[in-house]
Amino acid sequence: MRGARIVKPTVVVTRRWPTEVEDRLAAEFNVRFNETDQPYDRRELRSALEEADAVLPTVTDRIGADLFEGEVRAKFLGNFGVGFNHIDIAAAAKAGLTVTNTPGVLTDATADLAMTLLLMCARRAGEGERELRSGKWTGWRPTHLCGTHVTGKTVGIIGMGRIGQAMARRCHFGFGMDVVFYDSHPITGLDVPARQLPNVDDVLAAADFVSLHCPGGGENYHLIDDRRLSCMKWSAFLINTARGDVVDEHALVRALEARRIAGAGLDVFEGEPRVPGRLAERQDVVLLPHLGSATQETRIAMGMRVIENLKAFFSGREPPDVVS
Ligand code: DGY
Repeated sequence: MRGARIVKPTVVVTRRWPTEVEDRLAAEFNVRFNETDQPYDRRELRSALEEADAVLPTVTDRIGADLFEGEVRAKFLGNFGVGFNHIDIAAAAKAGLTVTNTPGVLTDATADLAMTLLLMCARRAGEGERELRSGKWTGWRPTHLCGTHVTGKTVGIIGMGRIGQAMARRCHFGFGMDVVFYDSHPITGLDVPARQLPNVDDVLAAADFVSLHCPGGGENYHLIDDRRLSCMKWSAFLINTARGDVVDEHALVRALEARRIAGAGLDVFEGEPRVPGRLAERQDVVLLPHLGSATQETRIAMGMRVIENLKAFFSGREPPDVVS
């Protein structure tokens, strides 16, 4: 007797993933990979939703409500990444799709990168490297590229979720820093000494380094604007590894040009991969190309987490990381 043919769900992956994860996915699902690795446009994303049982998008895919108009075949969106403000979750739910993300697995990598930016800003590491590589270094001297001391200073964290807490631990236990933070919910049971302040402005006023770890979009859109930048100390630095739209980039340029703050370290931008020229030409900013979770280990863990959610969904179990 011939066994019943098992039909594997059809899955579209919008960008290339680490080989180990693609291989695992291909072994278990009927997968269509994006061979060019170019971001899908609106039409390609819509076709994916119409033709596949599941779509696995990431931060470069804008999945707005318009993409769910009319009939779609897809029942599952497994986002590769923890942030999901590029997906209209309410519209996806209305269209009958379950959406998941990848929390937890990128916490340390992202906090490490926030710390990298903090240290690079404080110690003028980008400026120094540019000087050396361009052949302009004339040798050691007591007044050369003096930056800002980090140990013992105050870090202000906006958004005390997993990544905010991991950053707090690095700052406090690694660099003896005081930690103050803002979160829209009361946070208790922390494993690092830290003081929750009642509003964002108080954190900005107290901190020598402000590090953003809140979600993007919604009420956090342009959270850091002209007024909030003017709450910061003139000697303070702004670090953003969260989402570009949390910071009004034009306001940031104005604050830097007027020397109202000392500098910024940015890994995310409002119109990625476009970066405003007026930011790129400045020495007092460190700019990285959205590298927060970019370690081999982390990207593999993120992909495996998507697969875990996908398998749970198609075997009729509740996926562990449903977002709503
Ligand atoms: C995340 O996980 O949110 C990263 O920024 C990549 O999207």
